[in-house]
Amino acid sequence: MHIEKEKIGIFDSGVGGLTVVKELMSLLPNKPLIYFGDTARTPYGTKSAETIIQYAIEDTEFLIKHGATVIVIACHSVASVATETLKKRFTLPIFEVISPSRELAIKTTKNKNIGLIGTRATVNSNVYNREIAQIAPDIKLFSQPCPLLVPLVEEGWLKSRETRMIIRKYLRPLRDVAIDTLILGCTHYPLLKRVISEIAGKKISIIDPSKEVARDVFEHLKNNGIDNSDLVNIHESQSRFYLSDVSPTTEKIATNFLGRKISIEKAIA
Ligand code: DGL
Repeated sequence: MHIEKEKIGIFDSGVGGLTVVKELMSLLPNKPLIYFGDTARTPYGTKSAETIIQYAIEDTEFLIKHGATVIVIACHSVASVATETLKKRFTLPIFEVISPSRELAIKTTKNKNIGLIGTRATVNSNVYNREIAQIAPDIKLFSQPCPLLVPLVEEGWLKSRETRMIIRKYLRPLRDVAIDTLILGCTHYPLLKRVISEIAGKKISIIDPSKEVARDVFEHLKNNGIDNSDLVNIHESQSRFYLSDVSPTTEKIATNFLGRKISIEKAIA
């Protein structure tokens, strides 16, 4: 067993992927993590698939160079357009936020109307529609790009009146078609989960992909006999958090996302 050498590499377009880190830390408290957030080139969600794929290759190479043995694509915009390329190009296990949340959404919906909110890149990729059509052709997916939500979360406007108004407006078309399940298809949305859930109403089940991907990684490590429960709080000392641009703002946002202060290093390729 390669217990000590196992290192989970997580990447995102910026600090949003820390929502995935938070879930991983809670499920695997003793596992060293390495995080890369491409804050110098964020956002990805407004960029072309070609550019996102190129960035995703570079981000993965960075993590591998720094010792990652498992890769987690925390960014939905990347997972929607670059998963296939990364899986073909790299031989290590690659996890991503889309498949586990899609599977759970399919299991959860009763009326067969699922809603998806995300960035434009994620919604335009049609990745959910394609795969849902293959697995469960009787299920309908209704997607809504919500480009204003990322900056609102980064500003810390999590419960403000304006944020509620915008969420209400974005969710209206989804409520009109009576979805009963809603996928939070962006790293930032778990911070808005409570408000989204309140506005969506009790009849709509919310799927949080950060929890689902963390569960996938946990299962993978467990099935491969990688259990280091005897090692206490290793991640505290061995985990590393790299950003391609570090500013007081990114540090503050990172603390908000994780709910605790971390030591951030500037990534040097
Ligand atoms: N991390 C991105 C995502 O989950 C949101 C921010 C961005 O657009 O880069 O799609």
